[in-house]
Amino acid sequence: MKLTDIRRDYTLGGLRRKDLKSNPVDQFNLWLEQAIEAQLTDPTAMTVATVDERGQPYQRIVLLKSLDDRGFVFYTNLGSRKAIHLQENNRISLHFPWHLLERQVHVTGIAQKLTAAENFKYFTSRPKESQLAAIASKQSSRISARGILEGKFLELKKKFSEGEIPMPSFWGGYRVKIESIEFWQGGANRLHDRFIYTAEDKPEWDIERLAP
Ligand SMILES: Cc1cc2nc3c(=O)[nH]c(=O)nc-3n(C[C@H](O)[C@H](O)[C@H](O)COP(=O)(O)O)c2cc1C
Repeated sequence: MKLTDIRRDYTLGGLRRKDLKSNPVDQFNLWLEQAIEAQLTDPTAMTVATVDERGQPYQRIVLLKSLDDRGFVFYTNLGSRKAIHLQENNRISLHFPWHLLERQVHVTGIAQKLTAAENFKYFTSRPKESQLAAIASKQSSRISARGILEGKFLELKKKFSEGEIPMPSFWGGYRVKIESIEFWQGGANRLHDRFIYTAEDKPEWDIERLAP
């Protein structure tokens, strides 16, 4: 099988300006609902891109945990590689690859740390094991063996076998304020539909069609 032979046509249907909601958060929520209904694997999974101090981009998948007019929220380790990048440069890009629906959504924006109260609210809603894992893993640091991680996890499990698990200060979330958001729908003969919303501090969103 040659890689150049792997291709498919996109036939599920187009995206027309008249069908777009005026607010991109409403449009996103509609597509997310459809992704959930279509039983996509990890419908809330998004690729998050950040850049290091040399301008080198890095990407990784994280889960979207909430969204409203203020932006997209995800949680992570505040000492992780991505968090170090964001400390220097809070410009970020999010990407949702909804292949089965022949769709993708691309967001650009600014990441801002959530408040301690917001972090706490979500941390305490997580399963106990996830809370313990967040404490046990110094995310993105080099470790010599898996056993170290597992040992730490078991030690914490014993220590906090009863009562609340304290939220570590190195764990929390970011909210991505949207600067632009593009909705892409695959089209027949590679004539895909793309619409980009931009706000630029105006109350109304501009919506423009992009060439595929
Ligand atoms: C489906 C999936 C969901 C993930 N969700 C998260 C998440 O919500 N938060 C997180 O910090 N890492 C999550 N990860 C792990 C990240 O992809 C990544 O390995 C980790 O955040 C470290 O990234 P960094 O070293 O670039 O900071 C997820 C990975 C996968 C495959």
